[in-house]
Amino acid sequence: MSQILFIKNASQLLTLKGFSLRPAVKEEMNQLSMIEDGAILMENGLIIAVGLTEDIEREFNEQLKLAEIIDASGKIVLPGLVDPHTHLVYAGSREDEFNMRLNGATYMDIMNSGGGIYATTSKTRAASEEELYADSLKRLDLFLLHGVTTVEAKSGYGLDWPTEYKQLKVAKTLNEHHPVDVVSTFMAAHAVPVEFKDNPDAFIEEIIEEMLAKVATEKLAEFNDVFCERGVFTPEQSKRILEAGKKFGLLPKIHADEIEPYQGAELAAEVNAISSDHLLKASDEGIKQMAENGVIGVLLPGTAFFLRAEAANGRNMIDSGLAVAISTDCNPGSSPTVSMPFMMNLACMDMGMTPAEVITAATINAAHAINRGHLVGSLEIGKKADVLIMNVPNYMQLQYHYGLNHTDMVVKNGTLVVRGGRRC
Ligand code: NIG
Ligand code: FE
Repeated sequence: MSQILFIKNASQLLTLKGFSLRPAVKEEMNQLSMIEDGAILMENGLIIAVGLTEDIEREFNEQLKLAEIIDASGKIVLPGLVDPHTHLVYAGSREDEFNMRLNGATYMDIMNSGGGIYATTSKTRAASEEELYADSLKRLDLFLLHGVTTVEAKSGYGLDWPTEYKQLKVAKTLNEHHPVDVVSTFMAAHAVPVEFKDNPDAFIEEIIEEMLAKVATEKLAEFNDVFCERGVFTPEQSKRILEAGKKFGLLPKIHADEIEPYQGAELAAEVNAISSDHLLKASDEGIKQMAENGVIGVLLPGTAFFLRAEAANGRNMIDSGLAVAISTDCNPGSSPTVSMPFMMNLACMDMGMTPAEVITAATINAAHAINRGHLVGSLEIGKKADVLIMNVPNYMQLQYHYGLNHTDMVVKNGTLVVRGGRRC
């Protein structure tokens, strides 16, 4: 028997329609395609109708007799949030480093003295697959409670094949067993492992000659990412790794220009990356080249907030034609959060984005940043029934009542998985 779910009477239903084939840019990012007193009808995991409540009630009279009905009066309905950049699978936490940074140490100082990514690498190597799964599952539950229905997850706390493999397997198992869709990225090039400190090129050789083939053969990831930053991987080394990944069908992503300007945005354009992420210090020329080459800028307002750095200039980037998405960058060092709603607040406050642009950046544009724009990120007939009900009467209140999680209900693949802010 078919499973039918009907949400009706939404004070505002934000469809974000029209951008399934490419991300929204410039003024389009303000176009939420809102329906007042909106309704959405879902059958067997897919959206089958979107429109005015009275129109759908009239047209789908028969199906509605079999439907579970949810009244969203006084609330808004929008696509499930997509988080396109996380380091979901890791062990441990690093509040000690947070304290060190508040006392004056920098993020790179800590990393160069053996902490930072290295600290999490040691803990992740030591954790069993079961422990890693249990920790990551708790985080994934929290993502869902904050309205996220699709999440990208990077490896990169192994820096050796057994642990990278363990992380990728955990992400794959989570994807199979948890309602949230988990999309994997291979990121062994997250730091040069201590064992290779004197010969980083040998590590790069290992990634290129051995690891990439294994990732591709077992279909463990769709994307290949690298931390292109002074003292980590140079633009030349990053290019080699990303070009090698392409030969195995892995689409390039880059952690670019986070701490220093380092030609990361330019490299993203050159290798035709699907996205280039961070961009706090990206050059105007690099942003222009990214826009020309269809690279999406994934901005991480929580990272700037938590590192007390000046945020990426989202306003300028949008005005210069770059398709912008936002993300938590959830990780234990530079952004230990699972809250897309808080990222949305920060993107308004620190990046000069409007509440409407931020919603686009957290839904359809974020979906495109992980190659899912045709499946999720907007409420359109034929797309996955990933739908949120937020407990605010209009979308501007999402950003205005800041620091809160307004998620009331979450529908994933046509099934209600969160009700009244709790798992069901
Ligand atoms: O995206 N910048 C590099 N990687 C992560 C941080 C990883 C960590 O500190 O554990 C980031 O900010
Ligand atoms: Fe990151």
